[in-house]
Amino acid sequence: MDYLEIEGDNKLSGAIKIDGAKNAALPLLAATILFKNEVTIDNLPRVNDVFTILQLLENLGATTNFEDNQAKIDASSITNTTAIYDIVRKMRASILTLGPLLARFGECKVSLPGGCAIGQRPIDLHLKALEMMGAEIVIEQGYVRASVPKGLQGATIVLDKITVTGTENIVMAAALAHGETKIINAAKEPEVVQLCEVLNANGVKIEGIGSDELIIKGTGQKLIEAKKNITVIPDRIEAGTYLCAGAITNSKITLNNVNHTHLFTIILKLQEMGFDFDLKENSITIKPAAKIKGAKITTSEYPGFPTDMQAQFMALALVAEGASSIDEKLFENRFMHVSELIRMGANIILSNHTAMVEGKNELNGADVMATDLRASSALVLAALVANGTTRVHRIYHLDRGYVTLEKKLQQLGAKIKRLKE
Ligand code: UD1
Repeated sequence: MDYLEIEGDNKLSGAIKIDGAKNAALPLLAATILFKNEVTIDNLPRVNDVFTILQLLENLGATTNFEDNQAKIDASSITNTTAIYDIVRKMRASILTLGPLLARFGECKVSLPGGCAIGQRPIDLHLKALEMMGAEIVIEQGYVRASVPKGLQGATIVLDKITVTGTENIVMAAALAHGETKIINAAKEPEVVQLCEVLNANGVKIEGIGSDELIIKGTGQKLIEAKKNITVIPDRIEAGTYLCAGAITNSKITLNNVNHTHLFTIILKLQEMGFDFDLKENSITIKPAAKIKGAKITTSEYPGFPTDMQAQFMALALVAEGASSIDEKLFENRFMHVSELIRMGANIILSNHTAMVEGKNELNGADVMATDLRASSALVLAALVANGTTRVHRIYHLDRGYVTLEKKLQQLGAKIKRLKE
């Protein structure tokens, strides 16, 4: 198993390129099930979650070809409609195949993804919506078995809670349904918007894109025809993580291939903490703060502060001059990084869903363990400013979502290397 060894306490400088968004790539790849011809997707990040969904598509019978950052997927040859446990267990987002498989074939079997380190993460809202569209669903031996012999019917779906992959699953199901589907309280994340825009550009009429009310006019089980290449949007969470790397080391660094509008809340929070920015069309430069101030952070759905940036901002809060509070509203157990940060000398007090972070922590290198994707990057960030050497173990979590994190940080001047246990 690989681990990262980081020597702390040095400044960063220079520029790196941000990759395509993992969370946009996954639904787009699942959506290829809805197409009758080959789909070409550019700017795909070479991360393990993308390899996992490609493996799943191949296992269903699709042909895939992934070179550099471009994948060509032909799902017309799919005959198998079972998403097997052995692949689904590697990545919860495999549930994104449920909507398109059911919509196209009228039946499918998808392994239940199960919980994960950050919480229970049920899929009840995905299932309830598909039932409202006429599907019969049973849970059998760890699998969701769904069938709708005459095809899905459009329906009005009110989501009790905003769910990103839930909205994406329903949009993909609705794309091939008979009639119109209305989703009320839909997620508005840029990744959801891109999925809707791609389907809309290829013949599925979708109104309300980017709002919390979507109307999708289904094709009545007619497969969609891909008209041109799809380019995955830049990863706002990868960009946010590197902005935190610049911030925690109080350095000037530039990120290329970013979309500022998607980073708005993250930039605002960093400005509140004392940092300044230069924004150009597709790039952003973070500049050092005269004084790093504490912050009050509450996670929420887009355009609010992303839960996927909570751990990285906690690491940053450790070097602020004043105290910070971080309130996690989306996931019940997304504070696994706290105990590891405490092992590095952090003063953090947890009470229910809120972490109180003291400022001016003296951090010391230690052996720490990554527990989930974003928690892992928070440990790397803390290591960049800790005294001495930190070893971050179990980095397979990082490899699920960051493209060669250690190489990008090396490019910025960090003393980081990947080693074998
Ligand atoms: C997606 C992102 C993940 C991000 C999260 C929140 C992908 C592949 N993953 O995850 O990186 O952290 O959004 O921005 O895009 N819920 C239910 N029932 C459901 C579905 C969700 O109760 O059927 C709850 C969840 O437990 C959670 C909340 O709704 O408390 C939001 O979760 P959701 O938006 O569904 O997260 P994911 O789509 O799994």
